[in-house]
Amino acid sequence: MKPLLLVGAGGFARETLELVRAVNAVAPTWRVVGLLDDDPRLVGAEVHGVPVLGPSGAVHDHPEALVVATVASPDAPARRLEVVARLGLPAERYATLVHPTAVVPASATLGPGTVLHATVVLTADVRLGAHVAVMPAVVLTHDDDLGDGVTVGAGVRLAGDVHVERAAYLGSGALVREHLRIGAGAVVGMGAVVTRSVPPGEVWAGVPARSLADVVAARP
Ligand SMILES: CC(C)(COP(=O)(O)OP(=O)(O)OC[C@H]1O[C@@H](n2cnc3c(N)ncnc32)[C@H](O)[C@@H]1OP(=O)(O)O)[C@@H](O)C(=O)NCCC(=O)NCCS
Repeated sequence: MKPLLLVGAGGFARETLELVRAVNAVAPTWRVVGLLDDDPRLVGAEVHGVPVLGPSGAVHDHPEALVVATVASPDAPARRLEVVARLGLPAERYATLVHPTAVVPASATLGPGTVLHATVVLTADVRLGAHVAVMPAVVLTHDDDLGDGVTVGAGVRLAGDVHVERAAYLGSGALVREHLRIGAGAVVGMGAVVTRSVPPGEVWAGVPARSLADVVAARP
């Protein structure tokens, strides 16, 4: 059993603990050493029976453990990469976690620290960078390319050859047309239908998706 530490003790961490249990039920693989979180109120608590051992910097007390950053928020889409930058660990210290029900063909590439939740489907030639978080029931189709630190909310579906740049956040249920680009750090709101490329750093939502400021301004 390989030792594993999760950095971040919120909802994404609990979901990832369930993922690890599902993996272990198929083949005993991971021994979760603990969680780390920079919220001092959490340190000493237990999450699903797993202790919160200390702040994220305590990762250096466990040099034997592999690590996954389990932090995700549409309010701060770059936060997971910021945590990773602070940890300063080499890429080989990060685990890649895939739920046993995910479909991952041989043509897919997954970077270190990337997490694929239950029933995710990657069709063909999908590339996921490092520290990508893919929530349940996401479908990524041929030639999709997701940069480091991208977060993909539950039920998102990307048509072919969509490029999602570093630290962008796709809200749950969003649909994206083929060949488009979602810029670095952009946020796509839940339920959006994206028919044009989204510029870096902008928040887009609606059907068809537009800048959220424009969507709200256009309301009667
Ligand atoms: C788009 C989003 C980031 C905006 O968040 P926000 O800046 O806090 O926006 P607010 O909630 O203050 O809403 C501002 C306005 O935008 C509207 N709005 C918010 N999200 C919207 C969406 N997805 N589609 C259409 N309109 C939306 C609100 O109705 C509100 O309009 P109003 O002022 O006329 O009432 C957020 O609503 C969202 O979609 N987050 C993703 C959640 C998610 O999918 N999590 C993943 C779980 S796996």
